[in-house]
Amino acid sequence: MCGIVGYVGKQKATPLILEGLKRLEYRGYDSAGVVVLQGGKFDVAKKIGRVANLEKEVAQHHLSGTYGMGHTRWATHGGVTDANAHPHVSSDGAIALIHNGVIENYAKIKKFLLTKGYSFKSETDTEVLCNLIAYHYAKEPLATNGDSRFVESVRRTLRHAEGTYGIVVMALDAPGELVTARKGSPLILGLGDGESLVASDVSAIVSRTQSVVYLKDGEIAHLTPKNFSITTLGSDAVEPVIDTVTWSIADSEMGEHAHFMEKEIFEQPIALENAMRGRFSEDGSTAQFGGLNISAGEFRTIERFMFCACGTALHACMVTEHLIESFARIPVECDYASEFRYRNAPLIPNTLFFVMSQSGETIDTLAAMREAKRKGFKVLAVNNVVGSTIAREADGGIYQHVGPEVGVASTKAFTSQLLIGAMLALYIGRMRDLSFGSGVRYVTALKGAPDLVRKTLLQAPHIREIAKRIAKYHDMLFLGRLSLFPIALEGALKMKEISSLHAEGYPAAEMKHGPIALISDQCPSVFLVPSGEIVNKIISSMQEIKSRKGPIIAIVSEGVELPAGLADETILIPECHEAVLPIVASIPVQLLSYYVAVERKCDVDKPRNLAKSVTVE
Ligand code: M6R
Repeated sequence: MCGIVGYVGKQKATPLILEGLKRLEYRGYDSAGVVVLQGGKFDVAKKIGRVANLEKEVAQHHLSGTYGMGHTRWATHGGVTDANAHPHVSSDGAIALIHNGVIENYAKIKKFLLTKGYSFKSETDTEVLCNLIAYHYAKEPLATNGDSRFVESVRRTLRHAEGTYGIVVMALDAPGELVTARKGSPLILGLGDGESLVASDVSAIVSRTQSVVYLKDGEIAHLTPKNFSITTLGSDAVEPVIDTVTWSIADSEMGEHAHFMEKEIFEQPIALENAMRGRFSEDGSTAQFGGLNISAGEFRTIERFMFCACGTALHACMVTEHLIESFARIPVECDYASEFRYRNAPLIPNTLFFVMSQSGETIDTLAAMREAKRKGFKVLAVNNVVGSTIAREADGGIYQHVGPEVGVASTKAFTSQLLIGAMLALYIGRMRDLSFGSGVRYVTALKGAPDLVRKTLLQAPHIREIAKRIAKYHDMLFLGRLSLFPIALEGALKMKEISSLHAEGYPAAEMKHGPIALISDQCPSVFLVPSGEIVNKIISSMQEIKSRKGPIIAIVSEGVELPAGLADETILIPECHEAVLPIVASIPVQLLSYYVAVERKCDVDKPRNLAKSVTVE
């Protein structure tokens, strides 16, 4: 959740760290801080609020050192205060630390450290870890495996730490060195020209270098401007794998748009083209994927699919469930990753697991994946971030290929997950009973999806006007059926997330079993109305709302005729194939929540209390 960036090299560290922190701010934005080592002392600046506040604070200091580290915080232990912001410095002044994660046994360690004379200024688990490193450092541990005393004291500390961490450490008497380690929180080393970097996310370092090493859980790295080495908690040397990042800094910039969310909504036609490129068979009747690592024969033995994910990604799984069951006729179960990891679900043999995660770092999804693997199941991942923990630990998978998604509210990642889910349903269906002709029609429809999304995006000015009228409400319902029920859930999630407007998603017919009690002229309902057999049933639900004076916004497929006066507002979407419908229907719900948020003057890209990837439980 928190953002981390560290630098050792020839340049002044502070501007580079601040630039990195701005790019990482979407990971957490309660407070931010930076430390550099200069003149034989740690110079720390930290401030609650955004990185912009920190910049003002930094202007008061003269942070001219050429190595240091910075942090943006998403509070876990302790309130949002300057004192709780990172970096923390040990009470003996020897060690500085930034940390992403949660140290679960911090209370016990703190008790121990108090008996040894260490003192604390904050309420954080991080300050406890920092002092424990200082304690081990002061004891001058003997280095093993040629490692420095600095590395060894971090290693000894981490052997006592329960929980999760991505940390960067500086020692007062080790200028020009950073030590960094991870368990459960991502860290990437950047190898530049006479400089080394570390960050929780590639976007913070890609302007300096595209050569990176993805640190693994249980590894400790030692960085100097020209060198780096990696060892394990057990002191074994690690042979590093150096990767090249394939995207550039321009991919994570906002361009002419007012917000990243707006940019990413309008990028969706191209994102979908990228996600499907090279993934259809030559005969045009099915999908093909390079990295599944599972043979067609093995696929045919699968009797059940299980999908686990969180938030928006879970909604994409629910649409995928609908499509696999319709087109491949195989039972599918979806579960919240956070529930699956603890509920000890009985699992039948021949189940194939999928997890979906844009970031590939969501801790609950990762834990669900590990639980399924522990029980002996293969797990495949749908994921956007190359080299992420989930991508590396999965048995195989499908990359979304939509480039960095910076807006906290997931948009292009969501529709690309819907697309990949639809392609999976086709792939599996064609191995079973889906005919060649149906496969060809399906492929043609998917190939047409980017243009249908382009067409739907043209409704943006109309949706903006509707948003102006609904921004005044406090509660809303989003209602849909079948494959559009998860889109209703997604619409409600988006509205809550970025507009701070309370919204609930329901299957349209379920509304009369309770939520109808909320209906009044002060509670609008957004209905998703596709063409087809179900339309008359949905119209009945709309009548039930109308007769209770509830305002209705209808997102309607072209060709559907609604009774005159039933909807107060209408947004048309193109008529399309069942596999494409959820993708197209997502566009108006994204635009609606975006424009309501703008109208309500919400901080669209950094909504209250949220962070882009949730790496703590
Ligand atoms: O990175 P992931 O896809 O694993 O993230 C899962 C959820 O945290 C995420 O989708 C969240 O719900 C978004 N903020 C939704 O816009």
